[in-house]
Amino acid sequence: MERPPLILCVSVSEGNTALVARAMAEVLRADVREPEDVDPHTLSERPLVGFGSGIFRGSHHARLRKYVERLPHVRGTRAFVYTTSGMGRSQSLPWQRSLESVLRDRGFEVVGSFSCRGFDTWLPLRIVGGLNKGHPDAEDLARAGEFAERIAEELPAR
Ligand SMILES: Cc1cc2nc3c(=O)[nH]c(=O)nc-3n(C[C@H](O)[C@H](O)[C@H](O)COP(=O)(O)O)c2cc1C
Repeated sequence: MERPPLILCVSVSEGNTALVARAMAEVLRADVREPEDVDPHTLSERPLVGFGSGIFRGSHHARLRKYVERLPHVRGTRAFVYTTSGMGRSQSLPWQRSLESVLRDRGFEVVGSFSCRGFDTWLPLRIVGGLNKGHPDAEDLARAGEFAERIAEELPAR
């Protein structure tokens, strides 16, 4: 039997990215794991792998970047990237593109990218109660689910 999709998630600040990962996992019937818990050599056994974290000082979390940079080469395994960040969708695009590019270099077929705002408690913002309180909210999570549905349509039937 084929293994289910896998969503790798580093969510260390407020649990924002984990909420998004869970919303997608429900639709995709995917496993959600921290990258360090998954042997990178097993990724090609999955029909789809998601890679996501919050944005920290202008990039995905160092743990995720380190994991991705050490991935072995695969042959066309489907992948997607996702993030939550203080700045939200438009601003996180370059960081998403850069992660996509590393994955393509490793042989993944990147099939999509998702971003939304997340409650941001970076120190200077904490003083004013943080930014984007309540995000990801129900609407953000519904969008995450719709994104997962679009990707699921392209997966082989299980
Ligand atoms: C130390 C720190 C640095 C951050 N740097 C950025 C940043 O450069 N750009 C941005 O848009 N958001 C930034 N954020 C906001 C996080 O990306 C946001 O809160 C994200 O949703 C955290 O995800 P998590 O709760 O899943 O870890 C920062 C947050 C912290 C705590």
